[in-house]
Amino acid sequence: MTKTQSSGWGSRVGLILAMAGNAVGLGNFLRFPAQAIENGGGAFIIPYLVCFLLMGLPLLFVEWSMGRYGGKHGQHSTPFIFDAMGKAPYWKYFGVFGIFTNIAVAAFYCYLESWALSWAYYSVTGAFTGMSQEEVGAFFKNYIELGTNHPVVFWMICLFLNTWILSRGLSGGVEKVAKIGMPLLLAFGAVLAVTGITLQAEPGGAVNDGLVGLNYLWTPDFDSIWSFKVWVAAAGQIFFTLSLGMGSIHCYASYLNSKEDVALNAMSAGWMNEFVEVVLGSAVIIPISIGYLGIEAVTEMVSGGSGLGIGFAVLPKLFSGWGVFGIFAGVMWFGLLFFAGITSSLAMGTPVMGFLKDNFKIKESTGAWIFGSIILLLGIPCVLSPDAFNEYDYWAGTIALVIFAMIEIVLFAWVFGMDKGWREINTGADIKVPTIFKFIIQYVSPLFLIVVFIGAAPGIWENATKETSFYGWLARFLLIGLFVGVAMMVYIAKKRNNPQYAADEPFEKPNTLN
Ligand code: ALA
Repeated sequence: MTKTQSSGWGSRVGLILAMAGNAVGLGNFLRFPAQAIENGGGAFIIPYLVCFLLMGLPLLFVEWSMGRYGGKHGQHSTPFIFDAMGKAPYWKYFGVFGIFTNIAVAAFYCYLESWALSWAYYSVTGAFTGMSQEEVGAFFKNYIELGTNHPVVFWMICLFLNTWILSRGLSGGVEKVAKIGMPLLLAFGAVLAVTGITLQAEPGGAVNDGLVGLNYLWTPDFDSIWSFKVWVAAAGQIFFTLSLGMGSIHCYASYLNSKEDVALNAMSAGWMNEFVEVVLGSAVIIPISIGYLGIEAVTEMVSGGSGLGIGFAVLPKLFSGWGVFGIFAGVMWFGLLFFAGITSSLAMGTPVMGFLKDNFKIKESTGAWIFGSIILLLGIPCVLSPDAFNEYDYWAGTIALVIFAMIEIVLFAWVFGMDKGWREINTGADIKVPTIFKFIIQYVSPLFLIVVFIGAAPGIWENATKETSFYGWLARFLLIGLFVGVAMMVYIAKKRNNPQYAADEPFEKPNTLN
């Protein structure tokens, strides 16, 4: 990729690292292992890989090419990308999901990211050295209950960092962080993975063996293909980990030039994420925690599909048994989580900035601070209560992704049209995309998504009617308010601007976020 005026990315490597950074996140290192253990180890891996091929890769092609198409028409967020593709007036309101989800996910995600930042700090200062398991657990509990140890301060620092980097633009901020953060993350991950899988069994004891966990995950259980629950979990993980159904991939891709490759880029970023998830993600938490504590104890700890307890309350104690290397291990583990988190949360800010710039002529740097302020306000209930946190995670981080993906694939394959869509995917392509993907995108992925959604429906109903606390209710109202608020902005934008594009008349410039 040559650096041109109309591209917001400085280089192709930078773009791929930023896209991979968008995908590689806390989900790779905490959510994936927890989901895999909770869903029976080897039982999980076949549905997971099938979901990647039949839903993950096809949706990556779709989102990258939709994004580049939007950029060609001067649009960098999904409401008006959908509008350009769909023609009917209602499509832009479906595109609201692509702003809503980013804001709602960022609101709880940045808080988690700040845990990683603070745990990295506490690892450097040796705060966990000499603590018993109970003491590390109590430290964690105290932290999340907003006791001592400055949770709010770390959260503020984290929000500030995100906002400040975003305000520096794509190549000046996001890309630079990806170029530093991704290699460091890979290096830290590789060291921890090698350490994890080479844990030696103690003579005469079953514990302390890194291979127990790996065997558990990688011994396939073919019966799993009959378990619907495992399929829903695998599909959910594919969405979350690849950042699909959010609108952030569209936004990053919209800063490509109109003839630049999307096919190879999508493949590279997608496979890089999978490498980090299934190779590195499965080789840290699983072998270390199962190796020391056994499958049963760890399965109990991850019930609910979250690896937070193991990642933050158990690993620091296990590391502390490794002597001086344990301090480095802690810094690497939490540093890795922080880099994974920040490269993802940055991607959640850019659609908002793009939307404000395209439609309200608000400068990106101002847009970044607006985004940061919204995340601060929406994040307060999450910081105050896990009930709010869970509501955001479930409705925005799980359900909205699937709904949005269903809508976008129908728009792409059936409304915009598969022939035109296939041309979009192949324009400027640096690889030959196997023709089978045309069939998969048109028929298999939509059907797959509908089946997953129907399968998830009873759970959705249960969650919607479940009693919750004041903060849970507050979170629900805020989410509805956020969606309505963004929809109103879309309405106003349409009225104000009557945007200067037409679906068949590309609006080439300006196309920058710098
Ligand atoms: N894709 C990001 C993650 O895995 C959101 O954490």
